[in-house]
Amino acid sequence: MVSAVGPGVSTPRVGDEVVALLEGGGYAERVVVRAGQVLAAPDGVDLVDAAALPEAVCTAWTNLVDTAGLTAGEWVLVHGGSGGVGTVAIQLATALGAHVVATAGGPERAARCVGLGAVAGLDHRRDDFVAGVRSASAGHGADVVLDVVGAKYLPDNVRVLAPGGRLVVIGLQKGRRGELDLGALMSKRAQVTGTTLRSRTPEEKAAIVGAVGEHVWPMVAGGQVRPVVHARLPLAEAESAQEMLSSGEAFGKVLLLP
Ligand SMILES: NC(=O)c1ccc[n+]([C@@H]2O[C@H](COP(=O)([O-])OP(=O)(O)OC[C@H]3O[C@@H](n4cnc5c(N)ncnc54)[C@H](OP(=O)(O)O)[C@@H]3O)[C@@H](O)[C@H]2O)c1
Repeated sequence: MVSAVGPGVSTPRVGDEVVALLEGGGYAERVVVRAGQVLAAPDGVDLVDAAALPEAVCTAWTNLVDTAGLTAGEWVLVHGGSGGVGTVAIQLATALGAHVVATAGGPERAARCVGLGAVAGLDHRRDDFVAGVRSASAGHGADVVLDVVGAKYLPDNVRVLAPGGRLVVIGLQKGRRGELDLGALMSKRAQVTGTTLRSRTPEEKAAIVGAVGEHVWPMVAGGQVRPVVHARLPLAEAESAQEMLSSGEAFGKVLLLP
């Protein structure tokens, strides 16, 4: 809830229930955030669960739509479909009319990605995702790859791209330096991009937040995009929350309650 606003701020107002895209520093009872990075809490979702949405939705939206230019009918590979970003990216891409293949660690987690709307879920510990995407898409490949893994997946991410495909790297969990087959990129007329939300200017962040409010909040209210919350823990148990994430136990977000 908004407890105070600065001079000249008309929206939000004191007392509004809101969510926000923070600069960082979210492990706190109160935060200061630019007005342009605040959104009214979405309809149809518990206010606490809504905290799972802003960072994940802004990341999924800006990378799938602004950067990759995803359109209805295209094929998307979402790596880490079991994660905070991935659970939202699957639902968002599906709501936009795309066909999603998602990777996750283990068959049960892969199956849960299908439950979120993916056409197919692949176990990244055992399955060959290039073969898996080709099989699901009848040989077409991925028009868009949203990657949270980085260097380890770079060669196969390029291999799996369809002609005109776009690879967007947003995470570097398995390294930052890899080998890029420029010939494959040229023959497919493909693109490789990397982005971070954190490095964007306040104006860019406000534009992303505004687009999310306009385009994604109605999907949330309509039930097409839901927060996926693995657990709620008291702020004092932040270490256990981190452990849930790093051990691969969590599916979706872990929320810390002040
Ligand atoms: N660039 C940006 O603007 C931006 C914004 C937000 C987040 N991020 C980054 O994006 C990444 C994901 O964020 P998150 O919040 O979703 O984190 P998270 O909730 O901790 O999820 C991590 C995900 O990565 C998956 N993963 C780990 N190793 C994998 C592998 N070898 N193959 C496929 N998937 C693998 C995990 O799958 P399993 O647990 O099922 O194995 C899990 O789904 C992080 O690196 C984060 O820093 C970037």
